[in-house]
Amino acid sequence: MDKILVTGGLGFIGSHTVVELQNEGYEVVIIDDLSNSSEKVLDGIVAITGKKPVFEKLDLKEKDKVEAFFAKHSDVKGVIHFAASKAVGESVNEPLKYYENNIGTLVYILKELRKLPSAGFIFSSSCTVYGQADELPITENAPVKQAESPYGNTKQIGEEIIKDTCKVSPNLKAIALRYFNPVGAHESVEIGELPIGVPQNLVPFITQTAIGLRDELSVFGEDYPTPDGTCIRDYIHVVDLAKAHVIALKRLLEGKNKSSYETFNLGTGTGSSVLEVIKSFEKVSGKKLNYKVVGRREGDIISAYADTDKANNELGWKTGLSLDDAMRSAWKWECKVRGK
Ligand SMILES: NC(=O)c1ccc[n+]([C@@H]2O[C@H](COP(=O)([O-])OP(=O)(O)OC[C@H]3O[C@@H](n4cnc5c(N)ncnc54)[C@H](O)[C@@H]3O)[C@@H](O)[C@H]2O)c1
Repeated sequence: MDKILVTGGLGFIGSHTVVELQNEGYEVVIIDDLSNSSEKVLDGIVAITGKKPVFEKLDLKEKDKVEAFFAKHSDVKGVIHFAASKAVGESVNEPLKYYENNIGTLVYILKELRKLPSAGFIFSSSCTVYGQADELPITENAPVKQAESPYGNTKQIGEEIIKDTCKVSPNLKAIALRYFNPVGAHESVEIGELPIGVPQNLVPFITQTAIGLRDELSVFGEDYPTPDGTCIRDYIHVVDLAKAHVIALKRLLEGKNKSSYETFNLGTGTGSSVLEVIKSFEKVSGKKLNYKVVGRREGDIISAYADTDKANNELGWKTGLSLDDAMRSAWKWECKVRGK
């Protein structure tokens, strides 16, 4: 079976994708520098799949090491590139860290892929490229808006770099997957999301509050022009998201892509408000969440959810898991991590 490199393969989405790749029989090599993950994640992957992927602890910012890796693994057929720094707020204060880690590493990898006889490349992009879209649901044709943060900018620039590189590299085919809001954990709870410090995202903040790690959850604003006044997002189960990567990769390896560079939205197509997510959590956990509505937070987009037609019809991928499934697994994972 083809050898696939997964960068950032010990992180949240990467680890779930490694599981799906191994379940499909791919030979997986992981690169991760453990800057936002732990080597223990490998044990979880083994517990689920019974197979240990090759792991190289390597910082992709070290160009020489990236070159040496590809010299050793010149039989790599595909790369799924998750490795990046992802804290939006931090990126505002440390833009160069983000440009170096998210752009520099991408360039080094693409340079090596250009040397291979053929390669498929999957890029972790984000719905942040759309900003507050003028029309909902958001299609892939919606205009890319001025990025709100250096992090968001790295996704926009990253997509441009890949597109330009594909134009001049007949051996290279790429897909940028624009994720909406990944949540949940593998049903086995052998792997899940492990945010370091204060969680940036709603769902880990909810589960950490419910387990007693945080006093209360702040809901930022209830006067938005949405049915219940709170912001709306498209929460996608991480296992569904992981499966989409395997399908996208196969599309490239089997030459089914329509052009050398394609983009797909990965979301459920349904928007859920902050209060709906809280209700889902309370229903599946049987716990009352301590939350308080406070003022709006600067920079928050009101509403974003995906038009999934292209992913459903063109990629042949559909979500199978619900928001309740995601909240149930996220809660089970939080309980396991905290030993409760
Ligand atoms: N989680 C989200 O909400 C979300 C949404 C949209 C897009 N994305 C993108 O998806 C990708 C994966 O996100 P995630 O949530 O799994 O993040 P994560 O932080 O859990 O995983 C990223 C992994 O990459 C590793 N890494 C970072 N820099 C590295 C480097 N220089 N060399 C080697 N390894 C490095 C980290 O140690 C970590 O294990 C990222 O590119 C992120 O920007 C995430």
